[in-house]
Amino acid sequence: MRKILPSLTARAFTGVAISLLAFATACSYSQGSEPSPCNDPTPATYTAVISPIFDAQCRSCHGATVYQTLGGGNDYSTYQAIKSQSASLILGCIQHAPGYDPMPKGGAKIPACDIERIKTWIEAGQPNN
Ligand code: HEC
Repeated sequence: MRKILPSLTARAFTGVAISLLAFATACSYSQGSEPSPCNDPTPATYTAVISPIFDAQCRSCHGATVYQTLGGGNDYSTYQAIKSQSASLILGCIQHAPGYDPMPKGGAKIPACDIERIKTWIEAGQPNN
């Protein structure tokens, strides 16, 4: 009895660990590869949500030091710079909407949830913090 118990406990623990792992993997899989509703608890502020998206997707061409050469003169390096330009133009471009210049230039659409976050942020009046 005494010898069996610890090994049973260890087995049960391993079982639980494996199912947790499978669950976690399943979660990140469905988030990354399927367009799912963005149940994002973080309020869509520039600082928390939007700036990191621009960092990852846009500022290689629209950053402060490169926008003149790589971004066609369109500066999206700061909150003020983005706010001073047309929000509907930005949205149309990232949605690859007809009649708009598709962005990122030469690339695929950014993740659907990121487009949704930018849209929500614009509709909320582009809050900074
Ligand atoms: C690989 C470089 C590159 C990336 C990455 C990129 N852009 Fe651009 N973007 C450009 C260039 C170059 C232009 C100038 C117009 C053109 O050449 O098509 C431009 C123009 C624009 C314009 C103005 C379009 C117009 O009709 O005046 C907007 C808005 C824009 N980009 C938004 C974005 C956003 C938002 C992202 C990130 C999701 C992004 N871009 C990522 C290169 C890029």
